[in-house]
Amino acid sequence: MEDKYLIEGGTTLHGSVCISGSKNASLPLLAASLLTADKCVFKGVPQLLDIRNMVKMLSGLGAQVNHQGGQMVIQARELRETEKLHLYARKMRASFLLLGPLLVRLGEVCLPLPGGCAIGSRPVDLHLKGLSALGARFQMEKGYIRASAGELRGCDVTLSYPSVGATENIMMAAAAAQGKTRIINAAMEPEIVDLADFLNKMGARVTGAGTRVIEVEGKPELHGAAHTVIPDRIEAGTYMIAAAATGGQVHLQRVAPEHLRAVIDKLREAGVTIEEGNNELLIKAGRKMHSLKITTGPYPSFPTDLQPQFAVLLSVVPGESTITETVFENRFLYTRGLQQMGAQIRVDGCTARIRGTKSLIPAQVEATDLRAGAALVIAGLIAPGRTEISGVYHLDRGYEKLEVKLASLGAKISRVADQAANL
Ligand code: EPZ
Repeated sequence: MEDKYLIEGGTTLHGSVCISGSKNASLPLLAASLLTADKCVFKGVPQLLDIRNMVKMLSGLGAQVNHQGGQMVIQARELRETEKLHLYARKMRASFLLLGPLLVRLGEVCLPLPGGCAIGSRPVDLHLKGLSALGARFQMEKGYIRASAGELRGCDVTLSYPSVGATENIMMAAAAAQGKTRIINAAMEPEIVDLADFLNKMGARVTGAGTRVIEVEGKPELHGAAHTVIPDRIEAGTYMIAAAATGGQVHLQRVAPEHLRAVIDKLREAGVTIEEGNNELLIKAGRKMHSLKITTGPYPSFPTDLQPQFAVLLSVVPGESTITETVFENRFLYTRGLQQMGAQIRVDGCTARIRGTKSLIPAQVEATDLRAGAALVIAGLIAPGRTEISGVYHLDRGYEKLEVKLASLGAKISRVADQAANL
């Protein structure tokens, strides 16, 4: 059953919200649990569609998975490739994170080549280049990739782009390879550091995570471990931007301010007041807001996953702002929905030019992907009157209890069956 959101906009957000565990840390962590036949215990894994798909793939491989009482226990004693794995792997690009661990455990696996999506073609050449340097061999078969490897042997791998997923896949394979691997020009995202922390708890020796050079000393036997997932910095940033865009004041709990440096700096530059605590942030919308220029980039630059949301804020800030997207080649699809809502936003190659208007106009719009959907929700919260957003399943992929959390902050939002979509 497809649902849609109904939002009565024009209210400000006030109150306190708890940030969930990170989707983009949890997905590689769950994949890494396949590197051992022992039990792995995770705390803080969010209840999201992408996580449920990953769990279905793990159990499709024969792993035991129990997600209850706020913790997830995984034990991958016996693994084998099944049709169920392929069925779910086609649904989610992050299934490709199983490649490294399954090369270690099974020595061979056939996975669907992740297709492109609404934000770009999303190739996996860097994953394959890195894993083949460690000894893996690949064959393409009608949308699938058959991977095989004997003994994986460590070596230097230089990434032409600091790809998050490629860094994660190579790190997981290298953790169990013979000898040392250096990943040069590695991604530095907090999710990479969280994965390295977990691999070290499993007995691997990973150093340099969070810098551009990661060193991995392979260990033949990795054991089980317990780990608490870092907070979701993109969920947190989404609420920070929503608080600023609706002129409200919101207290975020269980957040890691150090993971949001670029976002905090840009919000402050725009005129938002932000007070920092150890694991909390207080966001107060500014009375006088300023237009600005944003360029996205690999961490620690401004995150591409908050680019659509920030564009909504800038669409109601006086003056001309620009957002330049350097990570994905097609991450401005959401601007069509914003233009329907009165945003003066024009896309010119990889730059969006935004002229702030007084407010936005409610409309019936459709989410095209996860973060575009989040942007439309923020636009609906701003626009006085009723906005309808279809394609809510995109949001279920990455936001835990979104409508519940927003309603607790005073938003007038409800989730109803989308009759039109279910015809
Ligand atoms: C991760 O995707 C995140 N997903 C994305 O979040 C995020 O936008 C992205 O990193 C960038 O920060 C997860 O962690 C599950 P990349 P990933 O490999 O690993 C190109 C969300 O909304 N590239 O760093 O796929 C690629 O085309 C999602 O939560 C290659 O050319 O990102 C893109 O232009 C969206 N070859 C750029 O690198 C490759 O082999 C960044 O991709 C791999 C990537």
